[in-house]
Amino acid sequence: MDVEATCWIDISLSAFASNVAKAKRTLAGDAELMVAVKSDAYGHGEVSIATTALAHGAKTLAVLDIESGVRLRPHVGDTMLLAWLLSPHDDFAKAQRAGLDLGISALWQLDKLAHEATGGPVSLHLKIDTGLHRNGALQGDWVALCEAAAAMEKGGRVRVRGIWSHLSDTSTEENLESLERFHGAVEKARAVGLSPDILHIAASAAATDIPQSRLDMVRVGISVYGVSPFDERTPADMGFAPVMAARARVSHVDTEQNLAWVGMGYGHGLLPLPPHTGWVSLGGSPAQLHSVQMDHLVIGIPHEARVALGDIVTLWGDETSPSAEDWAKWAGTIGDEVVSSMGSGVERRFSS
Ligand SMILES: Cc1ncc(COP(=O)(O)O)c(C=O)c1O
Repeated sequence: MDVEATCWIDISLSAFASNVAKAKRTLAGDAELMVAVKSDAYGHGEVSIATTALAHGAKTLAVLDIESGVRLRPHVGDTMLLAWLLSPHDDFAKAQRAGLDLGISALWQLDKLAHEATGGPVSLHLKIDTGLHRNGALQGDWVALCEAAAAMEKGGRVRVRGIWSHLSDTSTEENLESLERFHGAVEKARAVGLSPDILHIAASAAATDIPQSRLDMVRVGISVYGVSPFDERTPADMGFAPVMAARARVSHVDTEQNLAWVGMGYGHGLLPLPPHTGWVSLGGSPAQLHSVQMDHLVIGIPHEARVALGDIVTLWGDETSPSAEDWAKWAGTIGDEVVSSMGSGVERRFSS
């Protein structure tokens, strides 16, 4: 007998493909499109997402760490794969063997590379902090980092292919100030002999609103997953469609209390919500959420609705249900967290 899953995640690769094509046209423009597939492609499944992205307009991909890049490499040919979260315990020789580009922000990373990598040049992207204070070289350390990288480049050990930064996206003004600091840092890098081919700073929000921030390449994540980076604009406003729909089956019906139990909970990666917050779609009709528990949700049965064991509930992701952004509002966070939190143990069902 087939055992029906109590919950699963539907992933529309066709929605993702058109989002990528749209991002190439409207967010990247003349720049190259790098798609961020970190955190298992924001919870969507990294291999299918990475290959679909490359087939529909992405030129390069960003992962978070070396292990993710090594895992992805056999699926993506010789595409540029940038990994930027480096730890002293990482195996840099493995990164070199997998042909990863490394995001470098500290001298210890260059020293480690000098000891561990052998032979041909490793491609590097030096990261300057331009105000966000997240994993970039501080302005005061920048020239020393560039000089050390230039010396290694002369010795044939590395090639500084890119210079990059990440924006805070708190306001256009702050992003523009960061962009100016970035150009200043690039000048200093050129002054010590570096000649990067790729300058990149913009992610979804800046690529949308600040065309001059697109430079040579934009690194786009959340928009191509059909979730908005803006509070006041929906994905549809931006021309993007949701890619993920979270679904679960009714597993118990209590006709005395008019409640139903649905087989997905915070143990599957749902964000906990305050009691009596939000709603879901029960066969197309809105049903009030009573609580999110470890293994299930408890929902109210709408008046006059007939509910049977096995009925399908959509938590977010289709036209009858709330959106991932709705869940984010209820949980006091951003849509990125709603989709990326979904546990790897929950089956992804891909449709094209
Ligand atoms: C360094 C970096 N670049 C690009 C991205 C993609 O950003 P977004 O998902 O806002 O497009 C992220 C995501 O957090 C990031 O950390």
